Amino acid sequence: MKFAAQLRDVVKEYVLDGETVRALRGASFDVPQGDYVAIMGPSGSGKSTLLNLLSLLERPTGGEIIVEGVSSAAMDPASLARFRNMTMGFVFQFHYLLPEFTALENVLIPVWIRYGEASAEAQAEARRLLDRLGVSSAAHKRPTQMSGGQQQRTAIARALINRPRIVYADEPTGNLDRESGDAALTLLRELVREQGTTLVMVTHDREIALRADRIIEMVDGRVCRSFDLHAQTVAAVRRMLDERICTPASHGMTQ
Ligand SMILES: Nc1ncnc2c1ncn2[C@@H]1O[C@H](COP(=O)(O)OP(=O)(O)OP(=O)(O)O)[C@@H](O)[C@H]1O
Ligand SMILES: [Mg+2]
Repeated sequence: MKFAAQLRDVVKEYVLDGETVRALRGASFDVPQGDYVAIMGPSGSGKSTLLNLLSLLERPTGGEIIVEGVSSAAMDPASLARFRNMTMGFVFQFHYLLPEFTALENVLIPVWIRYGEASAEAQAEARRLLDRLGVSSAAHKRPTQMSGGQQQRTAIARALINRPRIVYADEPTGNLDRESGDAALTLLRELVREQGTTLVMVTHDREIALRADRIIEMVDGRVCRSFDLHAQTVAAVRRMLDERICTPASHGMTQ
């Protein structure tokens, strides 16, 4: 099996006002190429930290992150940036569309960053993605003139325009109502499947997680459980998630 990413005993500490916060305390798991991996866990369990490390934005304090077989420790800052740009796409909880640009222009920003210009093919691809995502009517609107759902779909198109090999999504529908969120995620899933793209998505929504190939459940900076949705039935996994074994060791924890 080929892996898009592998984490080995990853530790991440932040120093905040002289105190050390241990966001990750030895997390290990594999992300098989082409899989959809859902990351769940209570607030503060280290989910966003995991994505920041996997997307090579930050370096671990300890342990190892291996992307497509190469240890990130072996890459210098320039190769890290190039690798990010060439292989990864991102969808954030708050979409971060640029307000002064239209939807179409926002989708094309990763193309401009990579190639310095947007070819006619890239522009056609951007329109095709907006169309697939049901927001072609908003192509020439600016974010403030669009609904939250339209903005989030535009952000999904932007994440996919350069055909990344892996997409990282951190609660991509956190600010949408259930119905719009579900529709946007179904389209994201469809598009990544068509492109053979790996998807790693943080979500609080169990029903969305249950559509993944595997679920990683985090607690207190560690992997508490993981479920292979091909080896277990959805009903069985739903039951196990109901048991709520993975809860933080103490309430109001700051470490
Ligand atoms: N830049 C930072 N500086 C200091 N502490 C941080 C930083 N980023 C995260 N932390 C701390 O690390 C821990 C894990 O944070 P993280 O954002 O990864 O949690 P999360 O699982 O994504 O939570 P949520 O579901 O609320 O988004 C928390 O205790 C958080 O306060
Ligand atoms: Mg988070």
